[in-house]
Amino acid sequence: MYRTHHCGALRLEDKGKTVTLSGWVSRSRDKGFMVWIDLRDRYGITQLVLDSERCSPELIEQARDLGRETVIQVNGQVVERDAKNDALPTGAIEVLVASIEVLNEAKLPPFTIEDQTDGGDELRMKYRYLDIRRNPVKNNLIFRHKVSMLVRNYLSDQGFLEVETPYLIKSTPEGARDFVVPSRMNAGQFYALPQSPQTFKQLLMVGGMDKYFQIVKCFRDEDLRADRQPEFTQIDCEMSFITQEDILNTFEGLTVHLLHEIHGVEKKAFPRISYDEAMERFGNDKPDIRFGMELTRLNALAQHKDFQVFNSAEYVVGIAVPGAAVFTRKDIDGLIDWVKRPQIGAKGMVYARYNEDGSLKSSVDKFYSEEDLKKWAEATGAQPGDLICVLSGELGSTRSQMSALRMELATRLGLRDPKVFAPLWVVDFPLLEKDEESGRYYAMHHPFTAPKPQDIKLLDTDPGAVRANAYDLVLNGNEIGGGSIRIHDRPTQELMFKHLGFTPEEARNQFGFLMDAFEYGAPPHGGIAFGLDRLVAILGGAETIRDFIAFPKNNSGRDVMIDAPAAIDQEQLDELNLNLNPIKE
Ligand code: AMO
Repeated sequence: MYRTHHCGALRLEDKGKTVTLSGWVSRSRDKGFMVWIDLRDRYGITQLVLDSERCSPELIEQARDLGRETVIQVNGQVVERDAKNDALPTGAIEVLVASIEVLNEAKLPPFTIEDQTDGGDELRMKYRYLDIRRNPVKNNLIFRHKVSMLVRNYLSDQGFLEVETPYLIKSTPEGARDFVVPSRMNAGQFYALPQSPQTFKQLLMVGGMDKYFQIVKCFRDEDLRADRQPEFTQIDCEMSFITQEDILNTFEGLTVHLLHEIHGVEKKAFPRISYDEAMERFGNDKPDIRFGMELTRLNALAQHKDFQVFNSAEYVVGIAVPGAAVFTRKDIDGLIDWVKRPQIGAKGMVYARYNEDGSLKSSVDKFYSEEDLKKWAEATGAQPGDLICVLSGELGSTRSQMSALRMELATRLGLRDPKVFAPLWVVDFPLLEKDEESGRYYAMHHPFTAPKPQDIKLLDTDPGAVRANAYDLVLNGNEIGGGSIRIHDRPTQELMFKHLGFTPEEARNQFGFLMDAFEYGAPPHGGIAFGLDRLVAILGGAETIRDFIAFPKNNSGRDVMIDAPAAIDQEQLDELNLNLNPIKE
């Protein structure tokens, strides 16, 4: 038997017991006549003790020689500690060692296995299995498990069935590129890994499963960011015979349950705002509503005052930054540089200080009187002590610049408290999105999303104005879920593909199976998918999903631990009928 207890289990009540423990040598202290070792496993740390009065010199010598991370098994007796450690659940006891067996030697780890490690990102990723021994990473994985289990149990209790869908499929457009897998048995043909199980879950509805969910891997070949991984996990759900209202209520229920179980936070009746309203008020379709600083259109107040920059702009927008009138000139210049960075792309920023004494002073005083600025303050809701920041330009880009500035300022001012949770639904998304370069329309959510029935007539005349029965769940400025009511009849689906620029043949080739299924009694249906990694990260008080994934990829999509992707040899290429020359490394 390797162990009678794990390393987090023993308490003062166990005093006197003879126990066997197994684990890793976390650290040791040697005072000559006494040696202490912290023995670690997943469950905690137990202090081992050896002293010259009660242990043989050989045993002490053996303990002294143990290197960090050596895997050992020890036998001994639980004794009360003289100096107790309240910070540790096992801190009232130690184990007086009677024997030690080395189960496996360990090389010196390339970074310290401590909460605050000296290892950089890349090194920790290369030795991720060592990183996982550290509390912060281990606890994140435990937390992820807890969230997954809460989700599974909740949905199962609500009558959802978990059904697995295949990974080797045909392309499902979710807006990213596919990862493809060559087929050995079908020369020259490829599977695509699912960007989501979208079409399969709809087919399950045609199959009468009624309420489906799956915690499932999805694969998208897209540029990576803190909240994106090429393979990530969805809580994918679909329901039949429901309206949008039913879906919002069901998944609001799930979110309320998670917030309650995990944080004891009681949230009810999430706000719902339309996509248009989100864009107008926040410049963004995933607004962080933990703080104000809402966008105010200032065209009427700021134009026609001889200031050419504003006069020539399609859109002039301001925000009131609370308490920021005290920003120094240097602070503000820093902000201006920040908005002018290529990633943000603003040409500059106008600002006005609303001083505590009620006076107003702007960076463009030549053009605007204090009376004018008062109107800006009224419109933006600025109070004495605030700073008004103003950007101008083309509507779309200026909105995103202001939205980015709003988030940056909120971060700098500490308004994005990770312990505060502000969920909301964004509804009534446009059905289609125009790609300015190609002039083509793309499905904003995906091609299976149903247009609002009253808007279908606009498809021919004003496609951009057609709204969809599509919704996103937003939490603290992150899109944690998205879904829609689906098209469930062939003619509407065909019409949709036509508007997306598919010829009838292309539509049939790619999605004939779905449209065929619609002809065999498809129920009205709809659904949603949550990004599990994002949900877990945000509930865990972070926004970087990598920290909550056991074996994540780096920013170039590489797994630096196993060194993937990698070239394959010629024989394998030939077998797969891939006429490529292997790339020399
Ligand atoms: P969507 O594409 O909006 O919808 O994806 C659903 C949710 O998945 C998460 N997500 C990601 N998380 C990490 N890394 C990524 N690369 C990534 N991409 C998306 C987001 C997002 O809200 N089939 C539809 C759902 C439906 O209509 O039911 C879909 O996949 O949190």
